[in-house]
This record gives sequence, structure tokens and C-alpha cells, in this order.
Amino acid sequence: MDKIQSLTGMLDLYDDGDSNDLSKNIFETEKRIKKIFSNYFLKEIRTPALEDTDLFKRSSGDASDIVNKEIYSFNDRNDKSISLRPEGTASVIRSIIEKKLDQSTHKLWYMGPMWRYERPQKGRYRQFYQAGVEILGYPEGAPEFEMISLVCSIVEEFNITDCTIKINHLGSQENKKAYCDALIKFLEPHKGNLDEKDLERLSRNPLRVLDSKNKDTQSILKGAPSLKEFLEPKSIQLLEAIRLEFLDICKIEIDYTLVRGLDYYSGFVFEALSSNLGAQDSFLGGGRYDDLCSKLGGKDLPSIGMAVGIERFASLIDGISPSDKILSFITLGSTLEPKTYKIAHRLRSLNKNVILDMQLSDSSLKAKLRRANKNNSEYAIIIGEEEFNNSTVIIKPLKDELKEQQTVSVDELFEFYKAL
Ligand code: HAM
Repeated sequence: MDKIQSLTGMLDLYDDGDSNDLSKNIFETEKRIKKIFSNYFLKEIRTPALEDTDLFKRSSGDASDIVNKEIYSFNDRNDKSISLRPEGTASVIRSIIEKKLDQSTHKLWYMGPMWRYERPQKGRYRQFYQAGVEILGYPEGAPEFEMISLVCSIVEEFNITDCTIKINHLGSQENKKAYCDALIKFLEPHKGNLDEKDLERLSRNPLRVLDSKNKDTQSILKGAPSLKEFLEPKSIQLLEAIRLEFLDICKIEIDYTLVRGLDYYSGFVFEALSSNLGAQDSFLGGGRYDDLCSKLGGKDLPSIGMAVGIERFASLIDGISPSDKILSFITLGSTLEPKTYKIAHRLRSLNKNVILDMQLSDSSLKAKLRRANKNNSEYAIIIGEEEFNNSTVIIKPLKDELKEQQTVSVDELFEFYKAL
């Protein structure tokens, strides 16, 4: 029989204990990012994976690659076109409008899978995970600083040294329109040298040409007018103020050619990049989208947000060590095992910050210690027949070779465990 395999570009994530495993890094990244979110007093929002296709057409823009080529859409049994969400922002706004909460302010986070039918390559998948934040109801100003502070906190938490945060301002609708007109005028005589993709971008959304990967297009663009000339002084001042404020925390660069792949952005936009990622060098992106809520039928709700690509981010982390302490509970002899469960149960209730791995196999002490070392245990708690009969256990340090193992009473073990 033919084997059934996973779909192209969709990963199975499983932490098999290897310390440099991508899955392990992904799970640990998610855990720590959630902690950072709660540190910023953000509240969780969870929306469905499937939505009405029109939601993404209206939010991302008919001109975006996401809607044109990458969306997973199909008809349900009622012949209604539904889509797997390619991103989280549109669903969040849809939900806030539906709950009639689009007149108040919200600070929200979400985490979950997104789907884009892209050509898979390193760092680019068809199912990938995002951790996102949306700050709703606040006009330009403080939220921009809060957002960049959050990005810096994530970068700092994982010690990502090779990281640049690029920031730009797309200006008001009028600034944007004037710049697009100037760009079209500039590119008109060069049309013969643009590839099909860039010609399409030029006709649908000229700003996206700035994001072209084509080297010829990029060399043409060297002579193009700069967005900076079309921006109001207050927009340039905001970029400068953000750069200066975070100068000694993260590397921030103003890049007037930075544009984003989704059409809903207006005003401040940003991306975080690392040269260690290769072609897909951006692991985080976001910006302000003041018009999205009204475009989707809600009130005027000035908003800003961002999303981290978890797989890309996790691949930047070099040998992450788990934030929790791990201990291994080793019983020697399968007949003894059921009798020692109560001790393990009690330990777990005494200190919820420690992870206790109760080893379930009837293998040798050597094999069990090997597993304890592999899963990064700090100590092994060992109980054989002799220890059980004497109500004692052995505590064996696994990380510090200078520390001796010791035999202690079960009560002493409880005290030791509580103090970990
Ligand atoms: P985005 O830039 O399209 O923005 O995606 C954010 C991040 O998701 C990217 O920086 C990248 O790390 C990751 N990502 C995107 N596509 C893939 C893929 N095919 N494989 C792996 N990772 C990928 C958004 O989605 C906006 N919703 C962000 C936002 C929130 N803006 C405002 N609020």
C-alpha cells in the first residue's frame, strides 16, 4: 500500500529531545513569547482558522500576492467560498466588529497556524505559525513605541544579536498617492526592462515594486524618487524619535524603501531581519492600519500590529535551554514502579515550576540515565529496592560533575524539591 505523507510545505513538529532541534526551539519560543505578551498586559484572542474568503480579499487587497496566488480557498458543502487564514489581523478586526467592540481600545495577542500556498524553501512553508499582537483604538504616537519596545523585548529574550529592525513611514493617503504617481512617472520609460511580476505590481500597487527581488529592477530603482521627499516632517520626526529612543537596545535603521506585502498598511511600518536567515530574511513584520476596520464595515479604529514568524525566529536561536528545571525520576525494577508513583505525584504538587520526567520503561539504570541526560535533567532521583525498603532515595546531580550524589530520606527529598 502507498504510504500517506504530509502535504508539501507542512511540518510535523515533534521535540525528540535533540537539544538543537527546530521543534524544540519552536515550542520554547512560543512559551517565552507568551510570557512577554503577558508582561505587556496583552489579552489573548483566538479566532477560527477558516473564514469567509471575502474577508481576506477586502483586507489584504486584491493586488496582494497573498490574495492573488497564495490563499488556500475552496467551496464548502453549501458552495460558499471559504479560506484558511493567511494571516491573523483581518480575523481579529472582523471579530471585534462582530462583537460591537470597535469603539473601544484593545491590546491583544494571538498565536496559531497560518496558511499560504507559496513555493516552499528554507524558512518558507505552506503552514507556518505566527505570534501576533494588535493594539486597537489608539492613534499614531505612543503605540508605535510600545510596538518597537515589544519587538526589542523578543529579540533580547532570545539573544538574537544579528538583527536589524527596519522602520519606515508610508505617510498619509495623500502623501502615498503623490509618491505612487511620481514612482509610476519615473518607471514609465523603464517598463521595457521590468519583468512580468514587476509590471503587474506597477499596475496594481506601485509601492510593491520597491520590494522587487529582481536585480535589474533594483538597479533601475536607484535613480527613483525617495518616499522621504513626500513625507510630512512629523512622520520623519517619528521615525527619528523611535530610532534614537531604542538606539542602545536594538539596531534600528530607517529605510524609506521598506514596503509591506499587505495592502492595509498606512503610516508607520517595520520589519525585523537577520542575515542568518538567507533569502527569507524577515522574521517579523507589522505596522499601522488605521483604515482596515472601517473598510471591513466597522467604525474608525486606528490600529497597529505585528506578527513574528515562529519557524523563522526559532531557526535563529542557537541551542536554546529550556526555561524550566527538569528532573528525572528513575525507579529500578518494574514491580517497584507502581509503589513509587505516590512520591512522584507528591513532588509534582510541591513545586509546579519543576518538570518531573517519570521514566516508564523497564530498562537499565545506564539507559535511564542516558535519557535523563538527553532530556536535559538537572538531577536524577533514583529509587532501587534497597532505597525503597529504607524509605530513602538517591539524588544524583547530572549537570555539575563536582557535586556528589547523596542518599536522603523521602522527607528530605520533598524539602530539596520544594527549594528547587
Ligand atoms: P507578514 O509580514 O505577512 O505580516 O507575516 C509576518 C511574519 O510571518 C513574517 O515576517 C514571516 O516571519 C512569517 N511568514 C510569512 N509567510 C511565511 C511562510 N510562508 N513561511 C514561514 N513564515 C512566514 C502579517 O502577516 C501581518 N498580519 C502582521 C501584522 C499584524 N501587521 C499588523 N498586525
